[in-house]
Amino acid sequence: MNTFLKIAHRGAKGYEPENTLKAFQKALDLNADGVELDVHLSADGHLMVFHDETIDRMTNGKGLVNALSLSELKSFLIDGQYEIPTLNEVLDLVNKKGMINIELKNFETSEKVVALIEDYIVEKNWNYEHFIVSSFDWNALQKVHDLNSKIQIGVLTEDDLDLALAFAENIQAKAIHPDYLLLNSENVKKMQDKGFLVLPWTVNTEEEIRKIKSYNVDGIISDFPDKL
Ligand code: G3P
Ligand code: CA
Repeated sequence: MNTFLKIAHRGAKGYEPENTLKAFQKALDLNADGVELDVHLSADGHLMVFHDETIDRMTNGKGLVNALSLSELKSFLIDGQYEIPTLNEVLDLVNKKGMINIELKNFETSEKVVALIEDYIVEKNWNYEHFIVSSFDWNALQKVHDLNSKIQIGVLTEDDLDLALAFAENIQAKAIHPDYLLLNSENVKKMQDKGFLVLPWTVNTEEEIRKIKSYNVDGIISDFPDKL
């Protein structure tokens, strides 16, 4: 990963409903280098690509994602037409045409995500560079690292860069994923000097993109990957 990475947030969320196959296809069509997505577990243990804890905001249903089965979740639609995808469905769509930033929304997803990454590497010829696993839940990241230290980790933070840097060193992370509002040229360099990629989120306006790029970050996570 040497070049500047254009990463589409929740798929190309600026153009299509977030975390849908339509949004991930749009990201590929816009030549994004990768897609960021969020995962939760369904009640029956499937990895579902969805941001919120409940389906209330995004679908015509109600309830906690982790209280509903795969078939129940599939029966509720986003914008009246799109199913909530499983992580397998998104990976099969992207099919190595870009890297996948899997954000673990809770600790319970850790083991299944590790197993799924290993399965795609062994069975479908993907490699570790295709994946980066991030989370605000650092216990979840620790679990991933403990299960398979080859999996690339991105440490998410929205408040304390120094703590994130210390944790990243501790688990030999690949990247730090900070809220872009925390950044300046000096702290970006400090993280890069320690060997980490700096991949901030969620940078959307042209003015913000220009400013954050001037700090020489390694990539940006944006709802509008084509603006990057
Ligand atoms: O991965 C960065 C960003 O996606 C974290 O915030 O709320 O959009 O998942 P959120
Ligand atoms: Ca996310």
